[in-house]
This record gives sequence, structure tokens and C-alpha cells, in this order.
Amino acid sequence: MCGIVGYIGKREPKGILYDGLAKLEYRGYDSAGISILEEDGAINTQKSVGKLVNLGNILGGLEMKGHLGIGHTRWATHGKPSTVNSHPHLSGDGRISLVHNGIIENYAELREELKAKGHIFLSETDTEVIVHLIEEHYNGDLFDTVKRIIPMLDGAYAIGVFTQDEPERLITARKGSPLVIGLGEGENLIASDIPAILEHTNKVIFLDDGELAELTRDEVKIYDLEGTPKEKEITEITWSLEASEKGGYDHFMLKEIFEQPKAINDTLKANIEIDLTDKEIEDISRIHIVACGTSWHAGLVGKAIIEQELRIPVEVEVASEFRYKNPIVTDKDLVILISQSGETADTLAGLREAKKHGAKAIGIINVVGSTISREADGTFYTNAGPEIGVASTKAFVAQLTALYKFTAFLGRKRGMSQERADYILDGVAQLPSKVEAILDEAEHIKNKKEMFVGVNSTMFIGRGINTAIALEGALKLKEISYIHAEGYASGELKHGPIALIDDMCPTVAIATKSAVYEKTKSNIEEVRARSGEVLTIATVGDAEAKNYSSEVIFVPEVDELFSPVINVIPLQILSYYVAVDRGVDVDKPRNLAKSVTVE
Ligand code: F6R
Repeated sequence: MCGIVGYIGKREPKGILYDGLAKLEYRGYDSAGISILEEDGAINTQKSVGKLVNLGNILGGLEMKGHLGIGHTRWATHGKPSTVNSHPHLSGDGRISLVHNGIIENYAELREELKAKGHIFLSETDTEVIVHLIEEHYNGDLFDTVKRIIPMLDGAYAIGVFTQDEPERLITARKGSPLVIGLGEGENLIASDIPAILEHTNKVIFLDDGELAELTRDEVKIYDLEGTPKEKEITEITWSLEASEKGGYDHFMLKEIFEQPKAINDTLKANIEIDLTDKEIEDISRIHIVACGTSWHAGLVGKAIIEQELRIPVEVEVASEFRYKNPIVTDKDLVILISQSGETADTLAGLREAKKHGAKAIGIINVVGSTISREADGTFYTNAGPEIGVASTKAFVAQLTALYKFTAFLGRKRGMSQERADYILDGVAQLPSKVEAILDEAEHIKNKKEMFVGVNSTMFIGRGINTAIALEGALKLKEISYIHAEGYASGELKHGPIALIDDMCPTVAIATKSAVYEKTKSNIEEVRARSGEVLTIATVGDAEAKNYSSEVIFVPEVDELFSPVINVIPLQILSYYVAVDRGVDVDKPRNLAKSVTVE
């Protein structure tokens, strides 16, 4: 939800800020803007509505010489996407420029107070109050002023701010929204995420909630809200920028789909670093999995795996519900937060809620150093590498991998035989080659997109452990193609949704070999009897699948336990090609953002 960048140093900021924003565009693309402190001491601010390229077209023809600047790419919360609502926002006298990621909840009161003092607001945003507050309280020391106004703000923020009165200082502060500081030679940077600064340095400091920093060209100083200096760990980022580039693929999403065999292998190798004693593991009486969207679907698969293998009851909760329902959580419960970004506001709140109840809370997280990973009692990092496409693919498969491995890990500490644990881990280790075999059939799967031409509504069905994959298949299709898609447990179809079936509402049915294969087959027959077209995901060698389906995609045979990893792949590929065919920008579908740091 919005990305911010900032630069102070020996080079000209324009290109550095723009390239940084390009790496953050996944966080929002309603509008973008930059402010640069020019050599003559004036602040030059340029903004544009829509994707970053529109700003690029303006910047291309402009000379903006300077050494200090900030930039922003916006996912609109307060106020529609428009130039005036775009960041950076300026103080009334135009001497201070600020970018903000987050939401200021008490902005309406602050705005009224400031208006009463004569401040004039130009935008409808919550952000503009911050820069006016700074202006109101400015005492010639920007750091000190920011420190004094921060306690007046309720909500979440990561800010970057400078003033033309102090040309050698960039100030930043964070609460609830991510902020990373890049340490360079004769230059320093801030950003919402690592890819925005990785081209310039791999040495970073993650700012924590309640911290402020002062950046000059040669120095970075971190303080708490009382102004006491803090020593912070410097983290060296080991992954390369190429890992976040498209690498010859048309879209990040396609590249990330093809990276899934590697994501599984790399996640299988990852360490489980959790702060739980053997006794605490033995005593776990219930597990809660808390997550949003695709990560929640991973949680549903996790429930099926854990309940089957460990016989521990698992509740899977949508984080936005969990945080407000006064959940029944005890200190014998384990809470697992699943999040690609590690920054999702609701999931983070779920973590804090779980800890309030005395439960141990661990994260299955992809982004190293993210807030959830730092606040949890331990993190199992999925090693999927940076996921840029807004629709999650490889992070999902890595989350599933982590859940299998975690189940074997818990199992061994709770009486699971070594043989069974090995069976689980060996089963996962064999998945990359099977996923590879499906990827080799991408062209064949692409052809199935014809079934979705001119269609406005679709149904995805699956049973048991694959019910979650039906939900995930539907989410993937709807979010990137804008075709309405519903995911259902196959047996539920006749309890209502079957009313939607006709020859213009195709169904995608997961009917790979399983204990409930025959039941799923009957559900497909029911759809076919109502003129519904069915695209079936079937196990290779299933000769009858062609008889009861309109179209079939065959996938390699695996134990039903591992089938979600296999079955989701063709659904991702299908969604991708249907969306491309419809001309949607699949990496940045409308109204979405990669990292949802607002509730
Ligand atoms: C859908 C998708 C989202 C995310 C959700 C949670 O393709 O990517 O549904 O899964 O916003 O995000 P994370 O995993 O970062 O917490």
C-alpha cells in the first residue's frame, strides 16, 4: 500500500528515485510523484496520476539537479487518485516536502485544528496533515520537530521528509508501515522495500516501530521517540537484483510461475528458526493459522495436512476476522501467521492479538526482515525469492512446502515415526520435477483459455485438501482477468451455486486421483447435465476423464497429501493466459496492491 523512497548523497536523485519507485510500483500504482531539493535551494515537485510511466514521461524532459529527494507511488486510501492527492505533499509555505505510507486515523481532527490555525489544505488525503503539523511546530530543527509531532499521530506511517531550510538532512520515521534504510558510500537511502535500493547498496537497516532516523550523505543516526540514540544491526542482503527482474519473461507472474520448482527446493532447505522448547511443542493443544487471501488458502491446506498427520485440531482464520473476534486462544495454543510480505496489516494485528493471549506465534514469511518475522516468536522463511507479480504464485507453493516441512518437524517432536516424517519430506522433494513436467505443458494449458472467451462467470470445485485449491484457482482467475469466479467444495455445488451453471458459466473441476474421486466425478456429471462446460484437472492415465469432461488437463500422479502443489500449477497458468488474452496488466491488476499494509 504505497511505496516511498528517499535519497541524499553525491549523485543526482531524479533517476535513483524513479528507478526505486519502479521497484515499488507493485505496492500501488494509482499515482506517483517526486520532490527534489534543487541546487538553487527550491523544492521541485512533479506528480502524475496513473502508472509510474506517466510520471516518467514528465520527468524525461526535465532537468532536476540536486542531491536530496523523496518519491512516492500511491495506492489510494483517502481521496481518489488525482494529481492533487498524489504525494509528495508540501507544507503551506512550500518549504517542507513529505511522503507517507500508511493511514493517519485521527487526520480529520488534526485537520480541523490546523485549519483553525489558518492552514489551508489542498488535498483530500490524510497525509497532508502530517506536513502541516510539521510546518506548524517547526523550530528550525526538522528532526526535533518530527520527533515532537509523531506522538500526535494515530495510525500507521512510514514517512520521508525534508525541508529546504536544512538541505543536508533527510528525516524518516516508522510505525506500522515498513521502512528500510540503505547505507551507501557518500550517500544514504530510504525505501519501503529492499529492491528499491538494492542497486545502490546491499547493506541495510530495518527501522522498527517507534524509531526515527536522520540521514545525511555520510551518516545515518537512529533514535527512539524520546530522542535516545539506538544501535541497530546492519543486515547484508544476499539475494541479487536480477532475482527481482523479469529475466526475459513477458510478466513477473509468468516468471514466478516458472520459478516454482526452485522455490520448493529452496524452501525445503530453509531452517525452521522457532523459539519453542520441546515441552512447549509437546503441549500444543490447538493450532490457529491466521492469514489473508492466497496465504489463507495455504493455511486451509495446512489445516488438512496437520490434522491428518498430527491429529492436532487446527483453526484457520482470515486475519481481519481473527483480530476483532476476541478469539479463544490460550497459552497452550500455537498461532501460525502466513504472509508472503510479512507486512499485511491484519495478519500483523493477528500476531499481536495472539501474543496478547499468551500464545506462541510463529511466522511463515517470505520477506526477510519484515515486521511479522521480527515480532514473531520465530520464523520459517519461505525461500521463494522476491515475488513482484501482485497475484501470488511461487510464494503460495513455498508456503505449502513450509507447511509440509513444519508438519514433519512438529511430528518428530510429538511421536511421529521417522519413516512417516521421511515419507513427507521425500514426497515434497519429488514435487519440483513433477511441477517441471506441468510447466513443460504450459502451451497446452494455454489453449484451454478458449473455454473462457466471452465468459463472465466461472466455478471452481474441489474436495478435501483440494477445496482450498478450488478457492485459490477462483481467486487467481478473478483477480487478474476480472472474470467472476467462485470456488466451492464440490459437494456444496448442489446446495445453491449450481443455479448459476449454464453454457456460459464453465466449471474448472479438480478431480485428481483421491479417496473422493468417484464423488467428484458425480459432481462433474451434475454440471454437465445442466449444459455446463467442465475443464477437469485429472491424473495422467485417467482414461475416463475425457468422457465426462469438455476439456482435460492431465497432471502427474502424487499422493493426495501432496496434490495441492501439483493441482494449483495448471490453474495459475490458465489464469495467466486468460488474463493476458483479455488485455489485463497481470502484474498490476486494477484496485490491488502487493503488500496490504492498511486494514
Ligand atoms: C492474491 C494475493 C493476496 C495475498 C494477500 C496476503 O494473489 O496475493 O490475496 O495473498 O494479500 O498477502 P501476504 O501473503 O503478503 O500477507
